[in-house]
Amino acid sequence: MVDIKWDELGFSYIKTPYRFIAHWKNGAWDEGELIEDNILHIHEGSPALHYGQQCFEGLKAYRRKDGQINLFRPDQNSQRMNRSARRLLMPMVPEELFLKGVHETVKANEAYVPPYGSGATLYLRPLLIGVGENIGVHPASEYIFLVFCTPVGAYFKGGLAPTNFIVSEYDRAAPQGTGAAKVGGNYAASLLPGAEAQERNFSDCIYLDPETHTKIEEVGSANFFGITAANEFITPKSPSILPSITKFSLLYLAENRLGMKVLEGDCPIADLNRFTEAGACGTAAVISPIGGIQYGDTFHVFYSETEVGPVTHRLYDELTGIQFGDIAAPPGWIQTVTP
Ligand code: PLP
Ligand code: COI
Repeated sequence: MVDIKWDELGFSYIKTPYRFIAHWKNGAWDEGELIEDNILHIHEGSPALHYGQQCFEGLKAYRRKDGQINLFRPDQNSQRMNRSARRLLMPMVPEELFLKGVHETVKANEAYVPPYGSGATLYLRPLLIGVGENIGVHPASEYIFLVFCTPVGAYFKGGLAPTNFIVSEYDRAAPQGTGAAKVGGNYAASLLPGAEAQERNFSDCIYLDPETHTKIEEVGSANFFGITAANEFITPKSPSILPSITKFSLLYLAENRLGMKVLEGDCPIADLNRFTEAGACGTAAVISPIGGIQYGDTFHVFYSETEVGPVTHRLYDELTGIQFGDIAAPPGWIQTVTP
């Protein structure tokens, strides 16, 4: 294993030795290969650069106690990447190629998979970009599928300690737009609201639904969930949020492992009192408790600004226990990487 202060890692890029690259040309993918160069050489007319014809994924590799490595539901990332690709008229990446890229990248960079117990993981970033000579607003003639990885720690600085968020006046997506696709344009639109939130010492912003601005949709780069006193796990349902794999996993675990009532439905911003606890969930965010939410002049605290609530904690333990291989996973959730 390489010498890194694993427990001090945040969410930033560290170069790892290998990445997987495949090319689509004349209607077909090549078989892909591992390369060392982390600089892409692409045409200046590439639609990914001008018109945002690109999409990406995020998933993690987890070191188990026995030294083996787990991947959490990578098939779901493959399916979501293909839904994003379809929305932007890009070719599908066959699941076999996607999984090959992910497994080979982890294997080749095995020394960078953080040790069990450090809290850190290896974050994988699959990327699909439209490249090649172009100037008009058309789909690209060629595509690159890339998977690179970097070891990471907590995304929000608190980790499992609650942090605060502020409701944004901007929209990150439109009702029939690309909010449900994991495309770079959504994140470009979130840079200014995110920076403004951080300037005011909030971890990130909360986006309301773009149609009525009355319901919570997303928490920066993560989905929102709330817990009620009636033991319910509630998360927004909307066509403009990213369908989070972590969120769907939590819906399952809350119901089947924690015996909670689960519900995808409206989370009105005017009715935060119904939640005893709230959190953000996602691959990078894992489960990040929300201490309080600033909405206009009002600051609403959920469970506590400094302590994680008990239900959020149990959900965190169940999810991360499965990811790190300490708790039995529902069928099909874990793939093991064989070095
Ligand atoms: N919402 C947004 C905008 C995201 O970028 C992410 C991260 O992928 C999520 C939600 C969480 O999705 P997942 O749990 O699949 O990582
Ligand atoms: C993820 O959780 O994988 C994300 O994509 C969030 C962010 C780093 C963009």
